[in-house]
Amino acid sequence: SSPRVVVIGGANTDFLVRAPRLPLPGETVNGEEFDHAEAGGKGANQAVAAARLGARVTFVGRVGADDRGRALLRRLAAEGIDGRDVVRDPRSHTGVALISVDAGGEKQILVSPGANQRLSAADVRRPAVARAIAGADVLILQFEVPLTASLAAARLAHRAGVPIVLDPAPALRNPPPNIAKQLTALLRTVTVLRANEHEAEALTGIRVTDGSTAQIAAEYLLTKFGLRATVIAAGQGNLAVWHESASAVRRPPSTVPLRTFYLPRLRVKAIDATGAGDAFAAALAVALAEGQPIPNAAHFANVTAALATTKLGAQPALPTRAAVLKFLRSAVTSE
Ligand code: RIB
Ligand code: NA
Repeated sequence: SSPRVVVIGGANTDFLVRAPRLPLPGETVNGEEFDHAEAGGKGANQAVAAARLGARVTFVGRVGADDRGRALLRRLAAEGIDGRDVVRDPRSHTGVALISVDAGGEKQILVSPGANQRLSAADVRRPAVARAIAGADVLILQFEVPLTASLAAARLAHRAGVPIVLDPAPALRNPPPNIAKQLTALLRTVTVLRANEHEAEALTGIRVTDGSTAQIAAEYLLTKFGLRATVIAAGQGNLAVWHESASAVRRPPSTVPLRTFYLPRLRVKAIDATGAGDAFAAALAVALAEGQPIPNAAHFANVTAALATTKLGAQPALPTRAAVLKFLRSAVTSE
């Protein structure tokens, strides 16, 4: 049966414009047509990605009590996502992301978090949310809402033996001591961490540029925080490092050997990577919740993320499970 996924995180309205190139500081560049704003935000994107991959999804976050917030909630409902416990905050606005994409697919995102920034530990500890977390097959977290809220959710999941997938985006650089303390507490509850090079460096201080530096960062993270697996972007692909252990959640004894698997980036016609990272984390979480071994889960995530780069925008580009399976089949037959 389909796994139950809970996502706690950010929801934004995305205003995306593609242009021949990104504007330099102080410059104005004319871009292409703008049709309409789309639903975005890393948390909401992951919720939609998981739903399209067949999971039963609950999303919890905060939006403003405004038209954009209402539109985001309608979008979640249209994807079959339970958004009943999203807080509508009359004192702030729905998060906004201004996204510029150039002809090569390079992007820049400026976010005004608004209500996202006001998600609290109390929001997460409401009985209905706590129940959803404790009953989930996986909890997905990122860094677009306050760490206190994520940590509250992580503690509930940890206590209930629910695996946690963390996408530490956007990167938290040089956090003040109180935040650093919460970050450490959070990482100690995480099962699988999926990070890009910048995020891995922010967490470890190790500059990740290729497979071997990603391996060093992975070993540091696995050992220091007792994670089960990390999947770190490295060069032209991703490096998965994990403990081969029977339990899906609990940390294995330190004597269990580490395994490594390199996933080269798949060759697709990429036009915009917006939302691809979110697709990766969500697919990884769904596959883990289904009980797939780490290398299979990472491969499934790699395909989901690759397909998300073939269309403009975040949520409009997230593939269905059927599309992912079709790609997997065609890849097998063309080998
Ligand atoms: O990861 C992509 C997302 O980052 C966009 O949808 C935007 O809202 C920002 O949060
Ligand atoms: Na995209």
